[in-house]
Amino acid sequence: MKLSRWWRWCHSWALVLCAILRHRVVDSATNQDDVNGLLALQDAWNAQNILQWTGNDPCGLQWPHIVCNDANPRRVIFLAVSGLSLTGTLPEDVGLLTALETLDLSQNELTGKLPPQLGKLVNLHNLRLQSNKFTGSIPPELGNLEQLQYMYLTSNRLQGPIPHEIGRLKNLYWFDIAGNGLQGELPYSSDGKNQMNVGLDNLTATRHFHFNNNSLEGSIPSAICHPDMALIHMLFDSNQMSGVIPDGIEQCLNLTILKLDHNKFSGTVPASVGKLVNLTELHLNSNQLTGELPDLTNLTKLNVLGLSDNQYAPSEFPAWMTSLVSLTDMQMDRANLEGPVPKTFFELPSLAAVNFDNNEVNGTLDLSTSKPSLLFLSLRNNNIGSTSLGNFDQELHLEGNPVCNTSAFANSQVCTQVPAALSQSYQSSTNCTNQCSMNSIPNPIDCSCAIPYKCHFTYRAPSFTTLSDRNHLKVFVNTVATNLNMSEMQIMVPEAFFNDQNQLFVSAWLFPNGTEIWIPEDVVRISSAAGNIFPPMFGPPMFQAEPYPFEWPTSTRGSGLNTGAKIGIGVGAVVIGLIVLGACIFAFVQKYHADKARSSRETYPASWGSGKTDSGGGLKLKGARWFSFAELKKATNNFNESNEIGSGGYGKVYRGELVTKEKIAIKRAEQRSMQGAVEFKNEIELLSRVHHRNVGGLVGFCFEQGEQMLIYDYMENGTLRDALYGYSGIKLDWRQRLHIALGTAQGLAYLHDLASPPIIHRDIKSSNILLDGKLNAKVADFGLSKIGPNDGKTHVTTQVKGTVGYLDPEYYLTQQLTEKSDVYSYGVVLLEMLTARQPIEHGTYIVREVKALLDKGGIAALRSILDPKLQHESMLEVQKFVKIAMHCTEESALCRPTMSEVVKEFEEFNAQELAEGGSTRSSKMFDGRTSMNKRQLSDSDYTAYSSKNSSRDSSFHDSAGFA
Ligand SMILES: *[C@@H]1O[C@H](CO)[C@@H](O)[C@H](O)[C@H]1NC(C)=O
Ligand SMILES: *[C@@H]1O[C@H](CO)[C@@H](O)[C@H](O)[C@H]1NC(C)=O
Ligand SMILES: *[C@@H]1O[C@H](CO)[C@@H](O)[C@H](O)[C@H]1NC(C)=O
Ligand SMILES: *[C@@H]1O[C@H](CO)[C@@H](O)[C@H](O)[C@H]1NC(C)=O
Repeated sequence: MKLSRWWRWCHSWALVLCAILRHRVVDSATNQDDVNGLLALQDAWNAQNILQWTGNDPCGLQWPHIVCNDANPRRVIFLAVSGLSLTGTLPEDVGLLTALETLDLSQNELTGKLPPQLGKLVNLHNLRLQSNKFTGSIPPELGNLEQLQYMYLTSNRLQGPIPHEIGRLKNLYWFDIAGNGLQGELPYSSDGKNQMNVGLDNLTATRHFHFNNNSLEGSIPSAICHPDMALIHMLFDSNQMSGVIPDGIEQCLNLTILKLDHNKFSGTVPASVGKLVNLTELHLNSNQLTGELPDLTNLTKLNVLGLSDNQYAPSEFPAWMTSLVSLTDMQMDRANLEGPVPKTFFELPSLAAVNFDNNEVNGTLDLSTSKPSLLFLSLRNNNIGSTSLGNFDQELHLEGNPVCNTSAFANSQVCTQVPAALSQSYQSSTNCTNQCSMNSIPNPIDCSCAIPYKCHFTYRAPSFTTLSDRNHLKVFVNTVATNLNMSEMQIMVPEAFFNDQNQLFVSAWLFPNGTEIWIPEDVVRISSAAGNIFPPMFGPPMFQAEPYPFEWPTSTRGSGLNTGAKIGIGVGAVVIGLIVLGACIFAFVQKYHADKARSSRETYPASWGSGKTDSGGGLKLKGARWFSFAELKKATNNFNESNEIGSGGYGKVYRGELVTKEKIAIKRAEQRSMQGAVEFKNEIELLSRVHHRNVGGLVGFCFEQGEQMLIYDYMENGTLRDALYGYSGIKLDWRQRLHIALGTAQGLAYLHDLASPPIIHRDIKSSNILLDGKLNAKVADFGLSKIGPNDGKTHVTTQVKGTVGYLDPEYYLTQQLTEKSDVYSYGVVLLEMLTARQPIEHGTYIVREVKALLDKGGIAALRSILDPKLQHESMLEVQKFVKIAMHCTEESALCRPTMSEVVKEFEEFNAQELAEGGSTRSSKMFDGRTSMNKRQLSDSDYTAYSSKNSSRDSSFHDSAGFA
């Protein structure tokens, strides 16, 4: 008895030591260049107290704002420090971080030149340097970043030309250099100014050229439009560009927004513009265009047409104007229009705002047949002699027309009033009357004093031109709230207006909820995400924020221990370790003999205080057994290859049989990739607490002789992944797939709602779903799982982990983990079950591909990627399944269902399936749920889904980064 207690004491200590030592091993495992690179950044920004990067192991010590991969040594792949008011320059040593995939330094005060060493970050997908004070020119070395998909240099002070080398970015999807002082002509491959024969025309993957608000010169090279060019947004507005608009522009067939306003373009508008049939916005305002306007009859998707302020030949209202059936906003101020406005123009079904100021419009203004959509009409300074207004009672401006001298409009607002309030504000709550001091402002939630994060969004191409419709700001607030996971009450819009370049400027003050001040993590999150907020009809913003007055700790390097102290502790630990070890060897030998004599296995009751993240919490186990290494060695015939049933990044899985004939599966971590003691402990602790039919239960574990092993029930039918891809000889029919989908959902719903405390799995994928002999699904592998939020919080903030392809894009972006991240991954698994395709295959991402197919051809189009084994299934069935999958993979976590809702949907589904299959089980038992489910399903209806998506192209933008 005494001996066994002594032994337990020893064993606990050994485990503690292992944990400490292993931690140190992990410590030194971050790539040294990454360590040096990050420290160089911190030094250059003098930001020790802001970044809190202490010690010398970014990955092991989980420095804030970074994410590492699991390579050996570990590499830093993600760095986001948006909105922290960082000052200083970007040092050359940033080039050491060669594994980076995302670099987000946006919304800071960084100055100096962009170092050419940025060109060494060849793995970069996402480069976000917008809204700083960088000067100098764009380094040609950026052309080396062949993986790059997003380049944001927006709103800096960059000068000089766009380098030809940018044309080498074969994967570039989004190219945003707006709001700088860039000069020179647009480079193209055959302009004779470069030897490499490369230029903007080689960017065939790019959809967005956002070059507005610079000092770019010269004409639009015809070369940049050719049949392989996929551009949808060409924003060249507010530059110094000149020359004629080239005929060749018609080759940029996919353009939806063409903004050339506020330049010096001259000559006639070519007829080829009328062939860009997918245009929704065409802006040519404020140029020096002459001649007659071309026939735009075929631009039936056009919402906004801006033709103001040019020098066209005088002309009557062209007939094509009345065929622009989608037109909402028309601007033809100073456009040399003559004659009466055709009455039929006002019959356009969606027309909302029209400006014909400063022309020679005459005759009668006939609004008797205008549509209710019309909210704003301005015809100041024309020659209108009479009106027929019918029922029209919205904002109308006729100042400077002869009609104003008639009695009809004597003293009427129509002839005196200045155009509508130029600036609007919006707030969903009542006003507070109390005063606050300094930076504080009464929080609209409860009027307590709080410091808001003051954000400014400049929308460059909204598809409306006035704020007469107050719904726009409402939609804005709603979208911001949804995207940032806030309530609408937290958002105040003190000011919104169209600036003189027809860009919509919106200030939004974001208030913390329940506290006086935002914490830095929240500001980084908001700041990183805000540039991607595209409320419907608003289009892509330029985002800027006022530096937030954080309360940084006063002393630098204030927190954490200094390196000397750490080394001291390390040495101390080793010395104590040796002493304990000595004592333990003695005990071990004794124990070994004792164990042999007594072959019973005991439940392991350790109290295990381990790594730094665990302050005093011991290991709490219910029923998980401790196995000796020898025992497992025997069960697997010395880990014989023939018993291997799986392998992965962590190591191998073996089948084994205990002396009791009990079959087990043993997950044995590989020496090199052994998870930290903390993670290992995490998994044991979590698993020993969960007990559900659809959750893989833990039988026991072994932590001995440098081994980490977890022992589970053996699952005869292996992983779902193997079953789907035919590696395990099982063919899953439709019914079986439904059964597995339901089981998995039930397991997850249990973890989210019933486990105490709730558990977020974080790594749901087909290879983590196991199938027992009866094809019951069991959710397994809890290495990355997290205890869910409590204390009324809705999320936990954490570094992003998980498996590429299954990763929730919102989690990736915000680092906020909620159960909905599991829901997303589960949705991806559903798509995998449907198609028997990996989430990312041949460079395409399954979620995006399915969405695209549905958009294109509805459910029928899905046949092309359906698992051949399901080719004979009814598409009606498939459709229901897809609906659930698409609902789960909604981009916004808020829109996704909870797992228990999914369970209900599948239960209903299965019930119907059984009923239709002639089963005796009646679907009556699900009646209560049925009505509820109908409602839920209709929310995610395809029609709603596709119209929502086509109204903004942000969806692709946001998720593309993960594919
Ligand atoms: C760029 O495009 C031009 C014109 O298509 C082509 O001749 C040239 O080879 C391309 N350059 C590169 C580097 O791909
Ligand atoms: C233009 O859009 C269509 C439909 O979305 C697409 O099939 C085509 O590939 C696009 N063109 C280019 C050059 O990408
Ligand atoms: C316009 O867009 C539609 C749908 O995106 C696409 O199918 C079509 O090919 C485009 N038209 C042209 C001329 O590119
Ligand atoms: C509009 O499209 C029709 C049908 O494609 C074509 O015949 C006509 O010439 C086009 N009109 C103009 C002005 O491009």
